Amino acid sequence: MGKTISGFSKLSKSEKIDWIVNSYFPNTKNTKQILKQYWNSNDKLQQLHDEFIENTITNYYLPLGVAPNFLINNKTYTIPMAIEESSVVAAASKAAKFWLDRGGFKAEVISTKKIGQVHFKFYGNHEHLEAYFTHIKSKLIADAKSITANMEKRGGGILDIELRDKTTAIEGYYQLHASFETLDAMGANFINSCLEQFAKTFKNEALRFNGFSSEEKDIDIIMSILSNYVPECLVRAEVSCPVDQLTENHKITGAAFAKKFVEAVRIAEVEPYRAVTHNKGIMNGIDAVVLATGNDFRAIEAGVHAYASRNGTYSSLSHAEVNDGVFTFWMEIPLALGTVGGLTGLHPLVKLALELLGKPSAKELMQIVAVAGLAQNFAALRSLTTTGIQQGHMKMHLMNILNQFEATPSEKEKLIAHFKTETVTHSAVVQALEKLRS
Ligand code: MEV
Repeated sequence: MGKTISGFSKLSKSEKIDWIVNSYFPNTKNTKQILKQYWNSNDKLQQLHDEFIENTITNYYLPLGVAPNFLINNKTYTIPMAIEESSVVAAASKAAKFWLDRGGFKAEVISTKKIGQVHFKFYGNHEHLEAYFTHIKSKLIADAKSITANMEKRGGGILDIELRDKTTAIEGYYQLHASFETLDAMGANFINSCLEQFAKTFKNEALRFNGFSSEEKDIDIIMSILSNYVPECLVRAEVSCPVDQLTENHKITGAAFAKKFVEAVRIAEVEPYRAVTHNKGIMNGIDAVVLATGNDFRAIEAGVHAYASRNGTYSSLSHAEVNDGVFTFWMEIPLALGTVGGLTGLHPLVKLALELLGKPSAKELMQIVAVAGLAQNFAALRSLTTTGIQQGHMKMHLMNILNQFEATPSEKEKLIAHFKTETVTHSAVVQALEKLRS
């Protein structure tokens, strides 16, 4: 039987830690020390982090790295990436440098529409409901004015509200399907506040609508929430160059490399087992920038994977072709990102990351993030179709293995030099370390 406690959130931080230590680590001496070593010595900064969530007991560090040399629409960027996987930043940097010499990345925001829905049940006459919706639509928008006024001043707001009949899926199920323009904000709070106001107006005004019978007046609101599926908040990223410029060494010609690369993408387009891993590689780049810039990576993940299945089968997000001797590699993905609101003004590292990117608008950030994903995908496919992935991965993993065995700086230096020409495997590193130590 696990431990339970009531009123945990009301305990102080140190009381919470005491409870955890006593309940789960009674025989371990250094649990408190492990937790406390990650506390920030700047009390104000620590308090800021404590208050991001409930029941904070310590901070969980991720490395924040940077990938320089990204040329996007003729502007250079050094892209911040927060990620634990050892090869990701290295791969992004390599891909950035590769394309820097070949004209860089092109990116374009296709659309920025976001969606939210009020889900409700209505068992009366469909035409009466249609009539009510037509009657009430402008009031739905008017009643949300106090929420939308500021956004409207800046050029955003509610784009439209539709009544959607979903009764073939579930008896009595309808939606108010609303679309929004939230400019530089991710917009979750804005959209949810609007939706909750729509729901209130929609329910209350139904009681007074003469076109309803008395039973029809009682609309049952189930819930009001934004959708993280944003297929119309779309950005495209692309790289392109003549095939003969594609190769860096003489082991494989540009044409042969391009052919293999296109085949590899084609496989991910038709084979879901491969597509998931292929897209995971894209998300390595995307999540790292999304996280570094204080955006919600779970929302992005959910939306992107839904988009990858939009045609009924999970498929590759990216595509590649060779046409008239020109290699083109591109991707269109939905990204609902913000550069104001949320963590962006609150977390000092997020602020710094956005400053590093030149304080981009949400649209510019969509382009940067999409490019980071495409670059990551390019790097992965390039390794996979040439040397194999493990060579690069294990080189990066070498440091993790050395740290695991508490190698000293001089041991690290010697072994990194040694493994420049040797294959890295876990046992080879352990053996080399043992040999050095004996
Ligand atoms: C590893 O994190 C990502 C890759 O598996 C992506 C891919 O296979 O394309 C290398």
